[in-house]
Amino acid sequence: MTSEPKTLPTEARFIPKRLEEVRKRALENPEEFFAEIARELEWFKTWDKVLDDSNPPFYRWFVGGLINASYNAVDRHLKRGLRNKAAIIWEGEPGDTRVLTYYQLYREVNRFAAVLENLGLRKGDTIAFYLPMIPELPIFMLAAARLGITFTVVFSGFSAKALAERINDAKAKVLVTADGGFRRGKVIELKKIADEALEMAPSVETVIVVKNVTARGAKIDVPLTEGRDYWLHNLLPAHAKVDPVPVESTHPLFILYTSGTTGKPKGVVHSTGGYLVWVYATMKWVFDVKPDDVMFCTADIGWITGHSYVVFGPLLHGITTVMYEGAPDYPAPDRWWQIVEKYGVTIFYTAPTAIRMLMRYGEEWVKKHDLSTLRILGTVGEPINPEAWKWYYTVVGGERCPIVDTWWQTETGGIMISPAPGIQLVPLKPGSATYPLPGVDADVVCEDGSPCPPGQRGYLVIKRPWPGMLMTLWGDPERYVRTYWQRFSKPEEGKWIYYPADYAMKDEDGYFWILGRADEVIKVAGHRLGTAEIESALVSHPAVAEAAVVGKPDPVKGEVPVAFVVLRQGYTPSEELRHELVEHVRKTLGPIAVPAAIFFVEKLPKTRSGKIMRRVIKAVLLGKTPGDLTTLEDEASLDEIRRALEEFK
Ligand code: WTA
Repeated sequence: MTSEPKTLPTEARFIPKRLEEVRKRALENPEEFFAEIARELEWFKTWDKVLDDSNPPFYRWFVGGLINASYNAVDRHLKRGLRNKAAIIWEGEPGDTRVLTYYQLYREVNRFAAVLENLGLRKGDTIAFYLPMIPELPIFMLAAARLGITFTVVFSGFSAKALAERINDAKAKVLVTADGGFRRGKVIELKKIADEALEMAPSVETVIVVKNVTARGAKIDVPLTEGRDYWLHNLLPAHAKVDPVPVESTHPLFILYTSGTTGKPKGVVHSTGGYLVWVYATMKWVFDVKPDDVMFCTADIGWITGHSYVVFGPLLHGITTVMYEGAPDYPAPDRWWQIVEKYGVTIFYTAPTAIRMLMRYGEEWVKKHDLSTLRILGTVGEPINPEAWKWYYTVVGGERCPIVDTWWQTETGGIMISPAPGIQLVPLKPGSATYPLPGVDADVVCEDGSPCPPGQRGYLVIKRPWPGMLMTLWGDPERYVRTYWQRFSKPEEGKWIYYPADYAMKDEDGYFWILGRADEVIKVAGHRLGTAEIESALVSHPAVAEAAVVGKPDPVKGEVPVAFVVLRQGYTPSEELRHELVEHVRKTLGPIAVPAAIFFVEKLPKTRSGKIMRRVIKAVLLGKTPGDLTTLEDEASLDEIRRALEEFK
């Protein structure tokens, strides 16, 4: 391996004085601390109270304040001399490009908002976006926000069924999609998938279709349903001016669906004011934003990382955000480095899985490009292994750029635990996210909720509210309380503790190490998937009686789903059936959820009360001792798993 990173701690213990001081100030007087940051954004009316904690765990930030996300991300910069600065630089997979200056973005957002207004949408309505990585997606998000319309972005890799489920839960009246998207040189026909979804989603009255791939040379059929479907270009006025609607700070800016421990995805609801303040603040602390920065966050906007660090974070700061449509290694493994060089990217933010994949292609692909503009490198989504960390640090960053390993979640809105070079850079340790950011009262606790001693694995917890936190789960406040607050809170003592469902450890220096999920959620190539979702997809096939899905470690993807399936009477295991089940999951959930292996078994290990013991299956799969088996109903079920694994070899 290459040389050791220079930023590793030396003999003397480093004391991050400045960081400690800011963190202390934030915890001692959070209201004053966050009010100061919030004032850097523009409010139509200042809040009456920074934090309303009268109804925990339904905390409300900047209550009484009126704000607009679109105004703060776009209009505000026109007065600051940024009219002709690039807001969005977009690069298509085939190599075509588009640049939108802040003024052009302003004009587009106004035109798109006029379309939504003309359809009769207004504050309080919801709209769903099922779009590839094209500029129309952020423009629509900003247009919706301009009118106070709550949006939900559905990742364009999701299937028709997953899309329908999200539209139905959000009760969206309008769906915006595209004719298709490019991926690895192929066309994904999104409108066709959307049509299939719409058969299962009766709330949608109108569909707006962006002419994307057919405008760029693809020859596909795009059937439009009369009276329901419209081409965007036929609805867009040549010019429009739509005043931003001042909304309450607590007005839901968006809903984003994410996986939990049941088959039903959770609609994470984010506020407007608190979310914007948190994204704005974390951009400063973690990415140390400077006016000339060019930020390339490689996440798809369909995930929270894209919402916060492709769209809102960079635009709130008036810097340039780079959006890339396609795959990182298409047509060649230097595609991202080419983009970094071409646009002089200064902040680069990606997932460990991508680093591991690109690392495999060898460093020549990186070395071909001048990456000297890079200043800060970030990772997110899963733990990063030291080998990938070092490669990123040395080969990509030229031992010059700090790696900010950022821990957070869809629910937290923005980064929570991470190095903060914008305040003070601490010595980095590959694999550790270092310290919690200001205002984040994180700790690691044992089963009983008591603090864990250094070096011991426990559960990560957040002991007080922060501005970027989710407000609730859409339509299911009880599930919100149950999922995040039940495990460690002591309401009778007035103690409310947020439980993210991650294992973690603090070391002797107080550094946090995030050790993976503590629930039935797995991270596959950085994507968050519920094993229960994949199980219910499998069980919806007529041949499947029962299914258990567990995550298996994978050198590139971090984890991959592996399924154990009990067939119904009358079905026999075969290669064809295996293939059919794989295709079935692809159709039901989408390509990212497809199991890496499917094993047929006669029975699954269960507790006496009938719960599938995934922990035990996973242990057997990994060749480990299964641990406590007292609740296991039938020992023979373990031999079944062993036999299936053996046969497969
Ligand atoms: C995991 C992504 C280790 C964690 C922003 C968390 C991480 C889940 C890190 C949230 C990190 C995220 N180190 N693990 N730096 N960042 N995770 O909602 O398990 O897609 O709970 O949000 O990703 O995934 P989500």
